[in-house]
Amino acid sequence: DKGTYRHFMQKEIFEQPTALANTLEGRLAGERVLEACLGPKAADLLARVKRVRLVACGTSSHAGMVARYWFEQIAKVPCQVELASEFRYRDPVIEPDTLFITISQSGETADTLEALRHAKGKDIAASLVICNAPESSLVRESDIALMTHAGPERSVASTKAFTTQLMALALVMLLLARRNGLSAEEERRHVKSLESVARVVEAVLQQDRQLQKLAERLMHKNHALFLGRGAMSPVAMEGALKLKEISYIHAEAYAAGELKHGPLALVDEHMPVIAVAPNDELLEKVKSNLQEVAARGGELIVFADREAGFKDAPGVTVIGMPHADELIDPIVYTIPMQLLAYHVAVLRGTDVDQPRNLAKSVTVE
Ligand code: M6R
Repeated sequence: DKGTYRHFMQKEIFEQPTALANTLEGRLAGERVLEACLGPKAADLLARVKRVRLVACGTSSHAGMVARYWFEQIAKVPCQVELASEFRYRDPVIEPDTLFITISQSGETADTLEALRHAKGKDIAASLVICNAPESSLVRESDIALMTHAGPERSVASTKAFTTQLMALALVMLLLARRNGLSAEEERRHVKSLESVARVVEAVLQQDRQLQKLAERLMHKNHALFLGRGAMSPVAMEGALKLKEISYIHAEAYAAGELKHGPLALVDEHMPVIAVAPNDELLEKVKSNLQEVAARGGELIVFADREAGFKDAPGVTVIGMPHADELIDPIVYTIPMQLLAYHVAVLRGTDVDQPRNLAKSVTVE
C-alpha cells in the first residue's frame, strides 16, 4: 500500500530513516558493534579473514564499491569489488582467507547466486550475504546472512535497499577493523556517526521541495554527467543509474579526476554536470573544474556541505547539505540523488515504479 505517497519509490525513499535505524537495531551495544550479528561462529570466522571480495549487480554493486573505500581505509583489509556477471565467467583467483560477500536486495539475482556458487567451490574463509529477503536463495546458500531489515521494496528502482546495504556493510567493516587494531575510541566515534544517520537523512528529506524545483531544470535535458571522488564516486554512479533507469535521460558517472581525460569534451550548455562533493578534498578539485565547466557554458550543480562555504556563482548552483561525518556521507548524499531522479521522472511522466524493459528481480541472465 502506497499510503499517502504517489509512488512506491517515493514512499521507500521517505522510509529510509526508519529502515536505516532498523538495520542497526540489536546490532550495537555500548556504542560498539556486536560480533554476534555475524552469527555464533563470528569470532573464529573473523580471525581467519585477511581479505574481502564483494560481488553484486546494479545498485547493490554500487554499495560494494562504496564499502571498498571503507574496508581499505578504515579496516585496512584488502578489498576487491566485482560485478557478479563478470566474476562468474572469468575463473577469478580467490585466496583461501577471503571473506566472500554478496550483496542483493532480492537474494535471487541469477548472476550473484551463480557467483556465490562459484566461490563456494573454492577454498574461502566464509561466504556472507547482505540481503533484504529472508527466504531467498542467497540467504539459504550463504554461510552467514546479515539482513538489511529495510522492509519490502516494491519500486524497481532500488532506494532504501541500497542505503541499508551500506549500513550493513559498515557494521561488517567495523568488526574487521577492530581485529586490525581500530581503537575502541575510534570505533565508538564511527558507531555514533552510524547512529546519527537516521536523523541526518530525515533532515535531507526536508529538502524535497528544493530538489523538485531543481528537477524542473533537468527534465528537458537529454544527458547528464555525475561526478564524485573517493567513496562518493559510486554515489555519483548510483545517481546516474537512478536518473537513467526511471527518467530515461542518458546519464553517466565519472570519478571527478577523470573529467579532463575525456568527458570534459562533452560539456556544453546542453550537458548539466552534477557533483556530489561533501566537505572533502573533492571540493577543492571541483572548484578548479568549475571554471572549465562554466567556460563551456555548462551548468554545474554541486551538492556540498552547507558549512563548507561553497557559494553559487555564474553557471553554478550549490545545494547545501547538512554536515555529517565522512563515514556516512555516501548514505546522506544518495538521498538527494534519489529525490532528484524521482522528480525528474514524475515531470517526464514515466512509469516511475515500473520503468520500461526492467524487472524488479533479474532471475535469468
Ligand atoms: O536484488 P538485487 O540487489 O540483487 O538486484 C540487483 C540489481 O538488479 C538492482 O540493484 C537494479 O540495478 C535496480 N533496478 C537498480 O535500481
